Amino acid sequence: MRTAPPYGFSCDVYDRLVGEYAHQHWRENCERLLKRYPMDLSLVADVACGTGLNAAYLAERGSEVYAVDVSPDMLRKAACRLAGRRNVVILRQDMRYLELPRRVYTLFCATDSLNHLLREEDIILAAGSFFRSLRPGGHLVCDANTAWQLREGADEVPWEFELEGWRVTWRSGWDEESQTAVLGISLRRGDEGWRRELRETHRERAYSASFLCGALREAGFCEVEVRDAAGLGKPGALTRRLLFVAVK
Ligand SMILES: C[S@@+](CC[C@H](N)C(=O)[O-])C[C@H]1O[C@@H](n2cnc3c(N)ncnc32)[C@H](O)[C@@H]1O
Repeated sequence: MRTAPPYGFSCDVYDRLVGEYAHQHWRENCERLLKRYPMDLSLVADVACGTGLNAAYLAERGSEVYAVDVSPDMLRKAACRLAGRRNVVILRQDMRYLELPRRVYTLFCATDSLNHLLREEDIILAAGSFFRSLRPGGHLVCDANTAWQLREGADEVPWEFELEGWRVTWRSGWDEESQTAVLGISLRRGDEGWRRELRETHRERAYSASFLCGALREAGFCEVEVRDAAGLGKPGALTRRLLFVAVK
């Protein structure tokens, strides 16, 4: 059995497992937000870009894009997807310490990427880093899973299925005290008699809407709005994902 950092192996199945569905949802919200906010997409950053689905969409739409992630494995996938696009620059950077070549008009950070930061200090660092990476008047659009979503999503019984030649076992748990979900993914390859096993562990911490809004305001954002990512209405007790739009 081999172990890897988050997305070290699961980058191969990420799109089918999460990415394509999340991208479709993100894209619908993006188009709806563009009708409500004067967002300039001429130069954007897709921070924690993963396999590059959102970055490819933005590039296709005509934006100049910085596609940024900390995981070399996810960036390898993004590089394949974005190959040949002259309006995309791929950067390996940590979202807490971004140093983009130029400040952007709009910065996206999508699909629970903020939940991967496990300490409140990390969120504060990321908020400051997003603020510094934007031009005055620029927009930040980011989201975060709620405690409700992470708690409900946790299941003591392992979930087993096959995907693209892999047998996937997905184990998840929730720790109320640290508000953190732990997800164990193991992948076994059919063509090797299921003998080759790869494992990785992901952790996602939930933060309240008020903490996240406070961190953004503290970083300097002047207008911070929070919505339910499903439908863009007011968030409530059963909101699964919060969507933030903030203006520098
Ligand atoms: C659930 S994936 C989301 C990927 C993509 N945004 C999407 O919508 O499909 C979370 C991503 O966050 C990245 N990530 C986690 N911590 C990070 C950090 N500190 N800085 C930059 N990226 C990070 C991971 O490598 C992973 O690609």
